[in-house]
Amino acid sequence: MRLGILTGGGDCPGLNACIRAVVRCGADQGVTVLGFRDGWRGVLDGEAHQLTLEDVRGILPRGGTILGTSGTQPTLIEGGPDLVRDAIGVHALDGFIVVGGEGTMGASAAMDDVPVIGIPKTIDNDIGGTDASIGFWTAAQIATDSIDRLYSTAESHNRVMVCEVMGRTAGWIGITSGLAGGADVIVIPEHAFDIEAICRRIRRIHSERRPFSIVVISEGAAPVPGTMELPEYTLDANGWPRLGGIGRLVADEINRRTRSETRVTTLGHVQRGGTPVAFDRVLATRLGVAAVDQAVAGRWGNLVGIRGADIQTTPLVEVGARASVVPPERFGIPEILCT
Ligand code: F6P
Repeated sequence: MRLGILTGGGDCPGLNACIRAVVRCGADQGVTVLGFRDGWRGVLDGEAHQLTLEDVRGILPRGGTILGTSGTQPTLIEGGPDLVRDAIGVHALDGFIVVGGEGTMGASAAMDDVPVIGIPKTIDNDIGGTDASIGFWTAAQIATDSIDRLYSTAESHNRVMVCEVMGRTAGWIGITSGLAGGADVIVIPEHAFDIEAICRRIRRIHSERRPFSIVVISEGAAPVPGTMELPEYTLDANGWPRLGGIGRLVADEINRRTRSETRVTTLGHVQRGGTPVAFDRVLATRLGVAAVDQAVAGRWGNLVGIRGADIQTTPLVEVGARASVVPPERFGIPEILCT
């Protein structure tokens, strides 16, 4: 058997652990693995090389991806799906293992005659068919560590510290790091925020408990319509808004309304870099092994994910419809509702 592997979309910690698992598990079962450069771009441009055990030695703890990545979606390029089909013949492949996010999975599902097994990765954790995607828990830990650091400087200066985290339209990094770091206010995209309620809560904390506070805000958070401006977002190559900046607007407004000295920290891409935490290494390894097993069994067209402690599969065509966001029952936490 010959498999192609690619990593698509934004990088995250744990991709190399996954590539290693696919190559090593493949070698055990007599499967040759070809690595394509920069996601689907390498498939379209025919840039691939065989991955050996030597290539993957020592990469388990390394951040990023040895294959490179890109946001290229064959389905958005004229003739793209045909080039993908041609690549199967040119490289004598049985199919692809695609490690990607929502966009990459969507493109894979749309090419339903191309044999693909999907592995979910993204720090945003917004992919359907899995409880966790590779990279999420590392990003959540990095954000938590950052909040711990902001806490001590907030305390020294009696300041409000606003920490903007990534996550696109899902609040998983925000709610997880906010709760783990003991934030006073958590603002996530799934629940429109009321800036006055946030300020009320900050005033109350400062007068009743302590004169400093921590606000965690997800980059995709939005105010109740008509109450505050949003940043002006430009669009990326795939037409998605490039988020970032809501933390600055909220910090300015808190400063103006509460008269508390306020600072903003935008964590940005630091959440995507560096070595994966143990959970992501194990998840990446288990999903890599499961993907090879699926391929060897000829079960194409599925995403391999984790539900509880178990590996489960979901048809790729259903993954998009089940995008994962923070469910409403979690909004009852007072820090989120600003009660
Ligand atoms: O999807 C992962 C992610 O890090 C989002 O959280 C963020 O909005 C986006 O990618 C940033 O994209 P880029 O690396 O293209 O700036």
